[in-house]
Amino acid sequence: MKIAIASDHAGFDLKEKIKKFLEDKNIEYQDFGTFSKERVDYPDYGKIVAQVVANNQFERGILICGTGIGMAIVANKIKGIRAACCTSTYLADRSRRHNDANILTLGGRVLSPEAACEIVTVWLNTPFEGGRHLIRVKKIKELEMNTKKN
Ligand code: RB5
Repeated sequence: MKIAIASDHAGFDLKEKIKKFLEDKNIEYQDFGTFSKERVDYPDYGKIVAQVVANNQFERGILICGTGIGMAIVANKIKGIRAACCTSTYLADRSRRHNDANILTLGGRVLSPEAACEIVTVWLNTPFEGGRHLIRVKKIKELEMNTKKN
């Protein structure tokens, strides 16, 4: 699985930690920035990762800002994206099993690197359950067809 990853300045340090974690696990990723702690606008980075995931260039994405909230709001504007802001392994598990989340958003000012890496591990390794949850995800897609354009 190839992961697209990006952050703003507030998520930069955590992004670097998660990249190291992915490398240690031999998980392929591409870093779409930001590349320093200089202040930037999170929509510019969230949008890029959401687009490459929506276009199927990458299977999943990880986005990090200060809280994880701004990145989730941005990513969910893009058709085909189901981004989940997770602060626990429980949320990471459910976002995959029930919502088939294709982008994980994290808060660099909220989570310790250890907690964030646990969340990433669960999120990457948990399958979508399908069944009744597929019916619900299809309803989200129908809603999107009527309201969103990329
Ligand atoms: C940047 O200060 C901060 O607002 C941003 O990283 C993010 O938390 C927004 O949701």
